[in-house]
Amino acid sequence: MCGIVGYIGPKNVVPILIGGLKRLEYRGYDSAGVAVLDRGELRTRRAAGKIAMLEAALGADPVVGHIGIGHTRWATHGPPTDRNAHPHLSTDGTIAVVHNGIIENYGTLKTQLAAKGHRFSSDTDTEVLACLIQECYEGSLEDAVVAALRLVEGTYGIAVVSSREPQKIVGARQGSPLLVGVSDGQYFLASDASAILAHTRDVVYLSEGEIAVLTSGGYRLMDIDAAPVRRSVETIAWDLEAIERGGYDHFMLKEIFEQPTTVANTLRGRLRLEEGTSKLGGLNLSHEQLMEIDQVIITACGTSWHSGLIGELMIEDMARIPVEVEYASEFRYRNPIVTDRTLCIVISQSGETADTLAAMREAKRRGARTLGLVNVVGSTIAREDDGGIYLHAGPEIGVASTKAFSSQVVALTLLALKLGRKRNLSVARGREIAQALDALPAQIQTILDAAPAIEAIAAAYQDATNFLYLGRGYNFPAALEGALKLKEISYIHAEGYPAAEMKHGPIALIDEKMPVVFLAPHDAVFDKIVSNIQEVRARGGRTIVITSRDEPVLAGLMDHEIRIPETVDLLSPVLASIPLQLLAYYIAVKRGANVDQPRNLAKSVTVE
Ligand code: G6P
Repeated sequence: MCGIVGYIGPKNVVPILIGGLKRLEYRGYDSAGVAVLDRGELRTRRAAGKIAMLEAALGADPVVGHIGIGHTRWATHGPPTDRNAHPHLSTDGTIAVVHNGIIENYGTLKTQLAAKGHRFSSDTDTEVLACLIQECYEGSLEDAVVAALRLVEGTYGIAVVSSREPQKIVGARQGSPLLVGVSDGQYFLASDASAILAHTRDVVYLSEGEIAVLTSGGYRLMDIDAAPVRRSVETIAWDLEAIERGGYDHFMLKEIFEQPTTVANTLRGRLRLEEGTSKLGGLNLSHEQLMEIDQVIITACGTSWHSGLIGELMIEDMARIPVEVEYASEFRYRNPIVTDRTLCIVISQSGETADTLAAMREAKRRGARTLGLVNVVGSTIAREDDGGIYLHAGPEIGVASTKAFSSQVVALTLLALKLGRKRNLSVARGREIAQALDALPAQIQTILDAAPAIEAIAAAYQDATNFLYLGRGYNFPAALEGALKLKEISYIHAEGYPAAEMKHGPIALIDEKMPVVFLAPHDAVFDKIVSNIQEVRARGGRTIVITSRDEPVLAGLMDHEIRIPETVDLLSPVLASIPLQLLAYYIAVKRGANVDQPRNLAKSVTVE
């Protein structure tokens, strides 16, 4: 969502803030701003639009200094205008705040502050917080921040500077991530390590409810009761190259092409080919606990929810444990049946999605053991789960998730394999699946090698206004994911359906203008989906068919064919998803859309 960066040190702060904000721009990108302490004076520059607009504003009216904070915004309260962009100043202009999250009681606070004479120039909840900190100030910025936060309900990651104490930055987190970066004589505050990776890989993650105070001489952490907190410095495992485009036109394309490597990284050291099982070091579940599980709940949002649907089929098939997949936003507000024999699998690329985190906490509260399938190391879900499987896919910057999806499905396969082999999955079947996993990276590469053919198909459909994606069995979730990719980045309306369900409604939409993508690898339901392809053809629909071998029965039924390698049924959605990612990408590029920063979306949704 929004991004925060702060700096205190000997260098000119402005290029550091701008560089950091550019790295964070993938998270939110509707407006941006900085506040800099310039010879003791607090100066802000803000602009609606991309960071380039802020750079232009700074070019026209420069500021310099050695201490400052910056923000890139994804609007919640108030439209993305200059005046709603962060940082926000207190009424007396002495305090500047940048904020991720939502202050839920801001309306009440605003009324109370207005009665005390505060005046507001934006529609934001953040400005209310700045005024509240001013109101609480009695000589110490960190004390004022703590006092103000005690009055606040909601979620926040904040950075605060003040002209009254021009040698200090105060940060705080509650429901929105924040970390301190440490380097020789310089200290950083950021919502995401990528913002400061150009300067340091040494970071200290704040936990919920903690406050950081940065000065030029060092930093300290404390809790909301002002008790000091000790936390060791961790070193980020990836480097700058991992968050750069590396010659590709977009992060999304780079991440699609990384999948042979990222899937191999998810598998690395975890496959036991001979025994037909997997070794997962972070589960934190004893053999007895694994055997006790009598129900699995998978909870997630967006693309991660789609991988969860595939996980359901795998776990039920291999381990014979009943599985439910729930949208995290729904799960958290209903009265689900959870016992201490429930395993709750929480899937999240970012490890920060607010609904997913809340669903995990709710499952835990009800006695379930929680297992996080998370990509971002050190993220909140990874820190709060009982056990986990890291995806090791590396930073995913493109807003449309691609490499995280394939790694999630692979991680779920490893888990299902383990659960299955502990129960009644035969060693022979286990070996077959393990070998199929082992073969995946090379198979993905063969699909990527044929990308130009997919680009040509994209050219034929770039002006379409609707798309249907149809699949059955393991490929129904992949159809949902294919449709989501297209709508997210090209803004073409697309829907995924179980292929046979088409007859119960969507078939009314079929005419010669409607492209229909069929996911039809040679699997257990192939013969069934052929009938569905015929139904579309009979009504003049255009067909793009993903197949895995020569199928005489499809002769004359395909306007376009995309070939993927053969694999076991349960892994076919991983392979089928790769051409769908490419199709969505090329269509969006041909329509002139910004695929890395699609309108209205955010990479990590840290609000409800
Ligand atoms: C946002 C992103 C999606 C992502 C979803 C869940 O909506 O735009 O790409 O699938 O959040 O994110 P998570 O980080 O929890 O997997």
